[in-house]
Amino acid sequence: MATRNWLPIRGAQGRHSRQAHADMPEGTYEREISKEGFFGPAAFIHHKRPPTGWTKFEGPLRPRAFDLARLNAAEPSPWAAGKVLYNPALEVRFWKLAQAMPALARNADGDQLLFIHEGAGDLFCDYGRLAYGAGDYLYLPRGTMWRLTPAQPTSVLMIQATNTHLGLPDKGLLGGHALFDPAMLETPVMDEAFQAHQAQAGDFTVEIKKRGEVSRVTYPYNPLDAVGWHGDLAPARLNVKDLRPVMSHRYHLPPSVHTTFVSDRFVVCTFAPRPFETDPGALKVPFFHNNDDYDEVIFYHAGDFFSRDDIKPGMLTFHPSGFTHGPHPKALKNMLVQAKPATDEIAVMIDARDPLDVADAAKHVENPRYVESWKGG
Ligand SMILES: [Fe+2]
Repeated sequence: MATRNWLPIRGAQGRHSRQAHADMPEGTYEREISKEGFFGPAAFIHHKRPPTGWTKFEGPLRPRAFDLARLNAAEPSPWAAGKVLYNPALEVRFWKLAQAMPALARNADGDQLLFIHEGAGDLFCDYGRLAYGAGDYLYLPRGTMWRLTPAQPTSVLMIQATNTHLGLPDKGLLGGHALFDPAMLETPVMDEAFQAHQAQAGDFTVEIKKRGEVSRVTYPYNPLDAVGWHGDLAPARLNVKDLRPVMSHRYHLPPSVHTTFVSDRFVVCTFAPRPFETDPGALKVPFFHNNDDYDEVIFYHAGDFFSRDDIKPGMLTFHPSGFTHGPHPKALKNMLVQAKPATDEIAVMIDARDPLDVADAAKHVENPRYVESWKGG
């Protein structure tokens, strides 16, 4: 098949800035319409009014918010945790765990990422023991046998790369040690605690999830009984505090610069604390955008979420692609001048290349008024 080239357009009409996201015509609101997230061709359109000034928004495309903290009772198995959003390439669940998992888990459906929203404890797996705490991403390669033993009640945002892998983004001009040094990835150790875990007697069940269904395999011993391993594949831990986000004092960078993990059909980005832009003409809030190729999901972990109102830790917002979104009216007042020098928000963004469906369980913890939150100010 022939390769595709974008149409060779370079246009401009009316009042406009030359540089995107900076020096916009006075009294205007900039909207980006773009291809392939923020990587393809794009147009920057200067509107007289915020493109989120709707008075009515009816139908399935509306932006949605879910209070995941209210979603589930504690479940001993990750596979019992309620689904939140899903498509053929991605599955998002929210899981609360109060006590040590009685069984081992194994995801045969794809690589698994656990984002620890609350809690602390240990991960025991084929490779050893890894302590975890709030703000950790735990990467679990497909097929790993694992078990969490919480020291504190734990809640987890679970992200599954269905039938495929999770990897890291190409860091391009920044070089290999930017955003986080690969040395910050921590892998399990075969220490005394792991050996003590191995020595536990009794029957052990492994709950294997494949094609969404769970099979149970029982052994008369603990199958996490390895005495050693070597290779270039292992579970890994990375904390949001290990991230060193990039910013520009003169340009509002697109959210894609905060990409932490990449799969085939979605990316996981982390918004970590960072200073606001200081150049007088530079935008200090996210620009309005369509992002027509991606469904956008944000899970709010901690801090003050500077671009959205009425959002608390443990909530998740879902903006299906197809409409323009951007800052809430209160945040928009700080479009060019911010009262604070920096944002302290920590959030996990999942951008999915294919449309996502909302699972029934999530609908019970939906805030139906979220679509109204762009009104007034
Ligand atoms: Fe967005």
